[in-house]
Amino acid sequence: MIGVSTTTAQLRGAIPWESPRPLGLARVPVGIDVHTGSAFCFDPFQAYQRGIVTDPVMLVLGSKGSGKSTLVKSLAVRMAAHGYLIRHIDPKGEGHPLASYFGVDPVRPGRVIINPFDGLSPNDRGRMGIALVGAALNRALTPVEAAAVTAAAAHSEHLNLELLAERLAAPGDLHSPLVITERDVRDLIAGLHTLGSSVAGRMMFGDSTVTVDAATPYLGVDLSGHDDDTLRVLMVAVTGWITGLWGTDRLRPKVVILDEFWRLFTDRATAEWAKHAFKMSREHGASYIAVLQHLGDLRSVDEDTRAIAYGLLADSETRIVYRQPPDQAAALGELIGLTTEEISIVQRLVPGQALWRVGGRSTVVEHIVTDIERPLIDTNAAMGGIDAR
Ligand SMILES: Nc1ncnc2c1ncn2[C@@H]1O[C@H](COP(=O)(O)OP(=O)(O)OP(=O)(O)O)[C@@H](O)[C@H]1O
Ligand SMILES: [Mg+2]
Repeated sequence: MIGVSTTTAQLRGAIPWESPRPLGLARVPVGIDVHTGSAFCFDPFQAYQRGIVTDPVMLVLGSKGSGKSTLVKSLAVRMAAHGYLIRHIDPKGEGHPLASYFGVDPVRPGRVIINPFDGLSPNDRGRMGIALVGAALNRALTPVEAAAVTAAAAHSEHLNLELLAERLAAPGDLHSPLVITERDVRDLIAGLHTLGSSVAGRMMFGDSTVTVDAATPYLGVDLSGHDDDTLRVLMVAVTGWITGLWGTDRLRPKVVILDEFWRLFTDRATAEWAKHAFKMSREHGASYIAVLQHLGDLRSVDEDTRAIAYGLLADSETRIVYRQPPDQAAALGELIGLTTEEISIVQRLVPGQALWRVGGRSTVVEHIVTDIERPLIDTNAAMGGIDAR
């Protein structure tokens, strides 16, 4: 049993400020402000419009079982009720009940082919190509290689990975300010070949075999059952594919939930792509909800990749921090600027409670799950789950 009331009282005593400034947002209820007992709402678009944040990205951080997925699935239901388009990249395949609630089937790459270039602008197609080939080669592309991929990707509106490989095989025909020789593209073709024969590649070579209603309120992409390398490459492809689906619609707010977000930060090519995907999302009027367990996960990567990850962390103005173990204390202070008191609080949170640090204001929030949401989001309902509290 988790003693919520005791913990709540302890937290009240532990919070270092007497009267925190509430965010004052009236949209998308989340739960209860533990300090004041009043309702806490958060809508990234409203926060942006009110100037509380300058960027709609939300970062959700928390140890295993602390309540991250429960929160994001519940936000999916609540934000969809406001007419926001929810796109859920789901590496654990937990979103099936949510999909049936919305009356749609999750998209499963493997059963269908997803062409990562569909609907992207020429510039975005180039970046997608660079990310996928870089991930396949496991190294950053040279400037000439990057120029070759950019030129091949810009060649015509219709692009897929097979066409990209074909165009690169004829470097003399590429329109580029640089002279691109066969030698320059050799590794690229080898990389595409490796990708094409990999498990991930087989799910994204050729034209898409799935069509999706771009206006569907909820779209879940189930990426469960894949090894780490496959998953990372699939996450790149799917973030692009989802953006391409939006086409020119810049009016309806969109929310992309990216669980296991840190996987994109295991190499530079995919990290660069994640950075670009966040930028694209702003241009399309979208908010990313990026989920990760520990900031320490980002420390073990190479220096360039780490710099990109730390830059994204520094830029995110909405950090939702669930329970964290003591060994993360230094990273929480250094990378997202939590104070000593806040670090001590996040070590004592129980599942469902998080420190919401939004544009420099902090609130400890107890996320309240409604009866309707419970069967949609409880990952361990069969074992008693939330009722066990
Ligand atoms: N707001 C909440 N109210 C009550 N119980 C909660 C709440 N959030 C989470 N829990 C409990 O914690 C369990 C684990 O939550 P969840 O699956 O969201 O964790 P997680 O942080 O996503 O874990 P992982 O890192 O393993 O994916 C839930 O099944 C539920 O029992
Ligand atoms: Mg989870």
